[in-house]
Amino acid sequence: MKLPETGWTRDQIFTALAELRAGDLPTEGGAAFAYVYDSGERAASELAAEAFRLFLGSNGLDPTAFPSLLRLENEVVGFAAAHLGGGLEAAGSFTSGGTESLMLAVKTAREWAREHRPHITAPEMIVPATAHAALHKAAHYLGVTLVPTAIDPISFRADVAAIAAAITPNTILLTASASSYAHGVVDPIAEIGQLALRHELLFHVDGCIGGFLLPYFRRLGAQVPAFDLSVPGVTSVSMDFHKYAYAPKGASVIVYRDKALRRHQMYACAGWTGYTVINPTVQSTKSGGPLAAAWALLRAIGDQGYLDLAQRTLDATRAIIGGLREIEGLRVLGEPEMSLVAFTGASPEFPLFALADAMKLRGWLVQPQFSGFGSPANLHLTISAAHLAVKDRFLADLRAAVAEVQTSPPDPGMALLLQAAAALDFSNMSEETFMQALALAGVQGGRLPDKMAAINGLLDALPAPAREAAIVAFVNDLYTHA
Ligand SMILES: Cc1ncc(COP(=O)(O)O)c(C=O)c1O
Repeated sequence: MKLPETGWTRDQIFTALAELRAGDLPTEGGAAFAYVYDSGERAASELAAEAFRLFLGSNGLDPTAFPSLLRLENEVVGFAAAHLGGGLEAAGSFTSGGTESLMLAVKTAREWAREHRPHITAPEMIVPATAHAALHKAAHYLGVTLVPTAIDPISFRADVAAIAAAITPNTILLTASASSYAHGVVDPIAEIGQLALRHELLFHVDGCIGGFLLPYFRRLGAQVPAFDLSVPGVTSVSMDFHKYAYAPKGASVIVYRDKALRRHQMYACAGWTGYTVINPTVQSTKSGGPLAAAWALLRAIGDQGYLDLAQRTLDATRAIIGGLREIEGLRVLGEPEMSLVAFTGASPEFPLFALADAMKLRGWLVQPQFSGFGSPANLHLTISAAHLAVKDRFLADLRAAVAEVQTSPPDPGMALLLQAAAALDFSNMSEETFMQALALAGVQGGRLPDKMAAINGLLDALPAPAREAAIVAFVNDLYTHA
């Protein structure tokens, strides 16, 4: 972009921005079953936006200069600690999202081990295959070896025996999900907690997606096992406000059993010529906007309001799972405790990715998840309160789309593509060759095809490292400055 010689008018700017936004996934109205969380409560969203704006220019870098932010954070974390079963001594931090919360959990474990297990030079963390990729990212950034463990292929929960078998003298951290993103199930937290106690290890529960909502589901009578700091052995829990608390993005929290543990999360630096840095979290300069918006929303919706939103989410989820189970040709994976559902074809030949395309043509975004680690390829739905109003239309469209893709002839190009993919050596492929393979599936010049079935089929056929390399090649090309 070249700067305009003189500034644009407000009209010019918002016309241009609105045009761009019109091409995006709609964030309201229930069309999206991934990426967005829609309460359907416009007034509350407007209020959060106003609070965000009020604090836009404030800086969380220095809580003594912005005591308002210290106060807001202590209140929000105080709510989270109580919501997540923490005692009076629990301590936490507001962060920018699930990924940052998980990075801090791993950083804390690494520093804790340096102090309490100084003999460990190659620390390891145990991560079930269903745990979020952000834990892999944290291990990668922080130099901790990630030890993956198997899951139960029927329930899609972490396998406790596999975790027990993976513990070595180098283990510093156990992790599990409440719930997992992909299948919406809660891992056996109490049993893993016992392992943590027996081996005197830290144990982080990733409640980024489930931590806020699951206690409400339990109050509404749903079966939700204990998963939080009240469970013996659990030492920290993360929870995102920008998911089921419907806060604007950039809002999460990590809560530890106590301050002694949280101390390991901090970073301080006096070794330069400027101001002494003390960062409890990853970011240094950070707008107070997301914190103020989350605080405002929690106060505006309140406990009863969130219970009502949870009821709507639970009703929508039950109706959608019930509807999915009635559609011949489809199968729901596991028994989700959360409002997250993964479904697949009843037979391996079912054209699952073509179904995602057929739903897109009808205006719905459902999210393909690839096969591996004991889970078949499937389509994922993140259901929120606003989906209650559209669930019948969604199920009717899904029924029609299933009938359509089952009666459509198989794509001959797809069979050829998969045959070609099977013959390639992905372990040793240049970025250029990847780009050529992607072009065969219709990806060119940083543009994705309207129909994604071929590219999804190709990605699904690849082993995980090749899938990663293909996506890196694509995205490296996608971000070409304009
Ligand atoms: C269980 C779980 N953990 C972590 C994350 C990562 O959160 P974020 O995208 O806010 O970084 C997600 C996101 O969906 C999640 O579902």
